[in-house]
Amino acid sequence: MTKVIINGDISKGIINKNIYGHFAEHLGRCIYEGIWVGEDSDIPNTNGIRNDVLQALKDLQVPVLRWPGGCFADEYHWKDGVGPREQRPKMVNTHWGGVVENNHFGTHEFMELCELIGAEPYICGNVGSGTVQEMAQWIEYITFDGDTPMANWRKENGREKPWKFKYFGIGNESWGCGGNMRPEYYADLFRRYATYVRNFRGNNIYRIACGASDFNYRWTEVLMREAGYLMDGLSLHYYTIPGTWENKGSATEFDEQTWFITLKKTLVMDELITRHGKIMDQYDPQKRVGLIIDEWGAWYDVEPGTNPGFLYQQNTLRDALIAGINFNIFHKHCERVQMTNIAQTINVLQAIILTDGAKMIKTPTYHVFDMYKVHQDAEALEISCDSAEYRMGEQSIPEVSVSASRNQQGQVHISLCNLNHAQESIVEIDLRGLDLSSVNGTVLTADQINTYNDFDNPDAVVPKSFNDAKLQQNKLVVTLPSKSVVVLALQ
Ligand code: AHR
Repeated sequence: MTKVIINGDISKGIINKNIYGHFAEHLGRCIYEGIWVGEDSDIPNTNGIRNDVLQALKDLQVPVLRWPGGCFADEYHWKDGVGPREQRPKMVNTHWGGVVENNHFGTHEFMELCELIGAEPYICGNVGSGTVQEMAQWIEYITFDGDTPMANWRKENGREKPWKFKYFGIGNESWGCGGNMRPEYYADLFRRYATYVRNFRGNNIYRIACGASDFNYRWTEVLMREAGYLMDGLSLHYYTIPGTWENKGSATEFDEQTWFITLKKTLVMDELITRHGKIMDQYDPQKRVGLIIDEWGAWYDVEPGTNPGFLYQQNTLRDALIAGINFNIFHKHCERVQMTNIAQTINVLQAIILTDGAKMIKTPTYHVFDMYKVHQDAEALEISCDSAEYRMGEQSIPEVSVSASRNQQGQVHISLCNLNHAQESIVEIDLRGLDLSSVNGTVLTADQINTYNDFDNPDAVVPKSFNDAKLQQNKLVVTLPSKSVVVLALQ
């Protein structure tokens, strides 16, 4: 039995809605086909952006969208992606399959996508192979309202008024694909590039420095020490890889042992945020600088027969658990974690949407984003959880992952994951300092640990109504099915 206490009178701060952010890179079929089909396509579209995807993203209330990379960002030259499409120069996408990129999806198309779905743009600039001038001019092109070559060029290209935009990343993975730099060198470059990322007429840019991957605490230390004062956010990347980097494991063919290991590795996110956060606390005790986890999710071997450079993988119930556990961890650390971006939105890695020509399906991960969106901008409630153990051989992890929040209307939402692949889990929740009289819920589960939605069977894993939560006075008893994600609404 798991015992949980939720303290309604102790707030942990606001769960920034940007924790539910996304990431779309020029990689495989994410941008081209997944989002952009072009105005002449038979697939119904709005100015080249497919309508089915637009609707699915709107329904999810995507708060923020990161673009154009990833590794692609440090090879991307934005000037090649504006103006008449047929005149835009092509380039080789060296990181991702060596395919030819025609630059048809550029700044205007991305900003329109964000406007259509109501998301804040988060643009990642090129430090690795770009110049300070190129970066400065991109900001001027997008945000300056006046008579300058960049602003006039934007107008010629069809956008009279500047866009408002806030989130800008200064390079991506500068310790790796973004230039193989040392933290000392990157910290200096960050200071230089960030200086020229200007705020024009009331547009206030939130500057995000490239942060560490995984356990690289030295990177965080050096960045905070040398450049913390100039940044608003510092990123962190962590992927859940069940196997090794060389042999990651299949997205759909796995046993209970691999299920367990995958979820155990997902829980590492808690340790990473805690330890990177402690370093940040030393330099920034007020928590002014946000921790921006702008790449997270599961990374498996590509689907057999697909281009290895396209990172296309299926998405099962296991991925739903990965998403639910991560969100509960992000909520716990909401004072420091101000944004996260799942990698990636469509057809790449832990995608929320998969497409096949004109067909589109929602993955189990999509449904978790949908169920959890009630936490966006709500107040995280202090919670303690004494969880039953989930054992596999000699190893054990907590069986239950949980978080809770209260929205502005006073509704309380509790999200729970039962990690156990075989056993239901009984959770007793003490609702302290709360006066609640009704409960209803939604559950996501399936018969098998590797059940997934595909184009012939798109609804194999979909949310259903949940009736196994009993509220009596301030005690809630919940029976979670094995391998499930549940969100409860109480008022
Ligand atoms: O998301 C795929 C890639 O993973 C990104 O391009 C890169 O930043 C990371 O290594």
